[in-house]
Amino acid sequence: MKQYLKNHEWQIIEEGFDSHLNRVSESIFSLGNGHMGQRANFEETYTGDTHQGTYIAGVYYPDKTRVGWWKNGYPEYFAKVLNAPFWIGIQINIAGQELDLAKCKVENFRRVLDMKQGLLSRSFEATFADGKKVAVNAQRFCSMADGEVGAIKYSITALNFSSSSKITLAIDADVVNKDSNYDEKFWDRVYEEAQMGWAIVNAQTKKTFFQVCTGMEYRFESGGQKAGGKVFTNTKDKYADNLVEMELKQGVELTIYKYAAILSSENHPKEKIVKNCLAKIDATAKKGFQQLLNDHAAVWAHKWEECDITIDGDIAAQQGIRFNIFQLMQTYTGDDPRLNIGPKGFTGEKYGGSTYWDTEAYCLPFYLGTSDPSVARQLLIYRYKHLPKAIENAKKLGFKDGAAFYPFVTMNGEECHNEWEITFEEIHRTSAMAYAMRDYVEYTGDKNYFVDYGLEVLIGISRFWAQRVNWSADKNKYVILGVTGPNEYENNVNNNWYTNYLAAWTLRFTQEAIDYTKNADAAKYKALTEKLNFNEAKETAKWADIVSKMYYAEDKTRGIYLQQDGFLDKELINVADLPAEDRPLNQKWSWDRILRSCFIKQADVLQCIYLFEDDFTKEQIKKNFDFYEPMTVHESSLSPCVHVILASKLGYKEKAYEMYLRTSRLDLDDYNNDTEDGCHITSMAGTWMSIVKGFGGMRIRDGKLYFSPYIPEHWNSYSFRIEFRGRVLKVKVAKEKTEVILESGDHLSIVLNDKEVSL
Ligand code: BGC
Repeated sequence: MKQYLKNHEWQIIEEGFDSHLNRVSESIFSLGNGHMGQRANFEETYTGDTHQGTYIAGVYYPDKTRVGWWKNGYPEYFAKVLNAPFWIGIQINIAGQELDLAKCKVENFRRVLDMKQGLLSRSFEATFADGKKVAVNAQRFCSMADGEVGAIKYSITALNFSSSSKITLAIDADVVNKDSNYDEKFWDRVYEEAQMGWAIVNAQTKKTFFQVCTGMEYRFESGGQKAGGKVFTNTKDKYADNLVEMELKQGVELTIYKYAAILSSENHPKEKIVKNCLAKIDATAKKGFQQLLNDHAAVWAHKWEECDITIDGDIAAQQGIRFNIFQLMQTYTGDDPRLNIGPKGFTGEKYGGSTYWDTEAYCLPFYLGTSDPSVARQLLIYRYKHLPKAIENAKKLGFKDGAAFYPFVTMNGEECHNEWEITFEEIHRTSAMAYAMRDYVEYTGDKNYFVDYGLEVLIGISRFWAQRVNWSADKNKYVILGVTGPNEYENNVNNNWYTNYLAAWTLRFTQEAIDYTKNADAAKYKALTEKLNFNEAKETAKWADIVSKMYYAEDKTRGIYLQQDGFLDKELINVADLPAEDRPLNQKWSWDRILRSCFIKQADVLQCIYLFEDDFTKEQIKKNFDFYEPMTVHESSLSPCVHVILASKLGYKEKAYEMYLRTSRLDLDDYNNDTEDGCHITSMAGTWMSIVKGFGGMRIRDGKLYFSPYIPEHWNSYSFRIEFRGRVLKVKVAKEKTEVILESGDHLSIVLNDKEVSL
């Protein structure tokens, strides 16, 4: 755990430059706008330890799978979000010396991420080997008002000298991914041009042929006046720049404005992309930095109005939740159904920037609760569009007749994860798509989603389950063999309780969706059955049989559900009894030892109880929590939030708060020692749920909102907003009272602390 950032309600602040923390800070201070994003790399040259990262949503590379032993059914590739053209570069060379914080003496370094307006600032003083000293102030943002635009204001002052300088403003598409499987470069050149005042580079990805065209213009200003120098233009393979030679005068600040337009062939025809990029960059530069910033900040102001959570009495907690919300908002904006949420968002390469079950299992409630329903709906449509690929994925593994098996990891619907124990066995993920629909319908009331899209997906998934179960003559039950549950510290187990439960629930839920659709639009239903060749009577009879005869492993004596058939054969030890130096297990123990142990990576049985809480009595929840939580190491960032919610329900307030701290400041305090790879974006949605569903006790039952809030001891009050079926509610919880205000929308009845209240 590293705690080096200053507490502030709206800002993330780093003071003093420690090169060992640079990669962590590059992740934390990342910027994005739903369409592109980048790590907080420096504008000027930096030869120290850094992980350069610029990412364009939807632009990926199918990196050829690399495994020791090929297994039939493996995907050919692992999709990777590409490190895209580096547009921020501003190199400063003074009298032959490069400004490079790895080589200069650095003083008064300060990096600030202003979350209120989405602005990254950095200031420092740097002394060169010959004693020349400069002061730098830099600001930049990726525009939320225009997803293709970025802008930088970079000011430099010569503090104790006057000298000639060379300032290079570049676009560099000759970039690499650190996680490339075969050390290949993923970009090919298409076109470069540099003219006085601007430069443009169009590059194309290998294999997938996405083009990304990046253009820049710049302006210099000194003492409030336009400034300039002698300009040299330069291009080479996938690179273009302008080098400006000019005098730096002692004590006179020079400000460089660099504007960039980043266009992808996903949104522009290739034959027009260069022209469109030039037009966009021109218009952007004409607007100027301040106007662009105002437009950008206005979008943020609106977003914060919708989704802010306030916490009074605990600045670290306030900063933590805002940081989580900030990252979620800049990762996904919901205006393009081709896009989704990578577990690292735009903050790193890990997890390939691809879509995981995380979206449906963790992120959806955040967007449902804080944004217009259209945002979450886009996430559902994304999976609807991938249905043909899910059917293909299932076929590759031997399933048939329209069975749909959604991928664990994907960019375009194809599975691209290639560890057999996850690809083939972590099959529960396909039901996360169904659960997402349940969530969507609960929050929005929009059941017609089933008619228009949802039922088709549900039938595909149910067909998968109907083929994946098998009848055990021994047990006289349906069983599901050879799976990995959400807890990835056990593989190839039988009857993972979570998986069996989700499978049976999906079959029931599909039946409900069939009944609704038939009633709501008989003609559409008929057309769908024909399209899908769906024999309702026969297929649903089989589903009902599975539902009624599904096997669930349990230990009646202890009153617990068993994570899998053999769980009780394990040596049951509590995490508290492990030597501290053994943790984290995934770094300290062999995989073999982990698999044989009882230790649980992330909520598994408890994940299911969290999803279907009302199916269980409080006593049942308590027994399972008391049994499993002490064996859980939470080595997935997705784990603590589920525990906050259940612990809150059980009145385990201390446990809930301990888990809350782990999720809310996971990256800010680098809890798992891995923030340098990028931030844990999907677990951030879990932080939001921890407050709203955990402390706020929010639930939706049969279309009705319930709250049973309490307040963590260290807080004076907190508040959050909820979008619910056309209304916006504000919930303010203080020590002595809770207020629920209907801010907009029709009259509504809710249940607050078990009492019906009319708003
Ligand atoms: C978790 C998975 C999750 C993935 C991406 C893994 O560590 O075990 O459940 O989907 O991270 O967040």
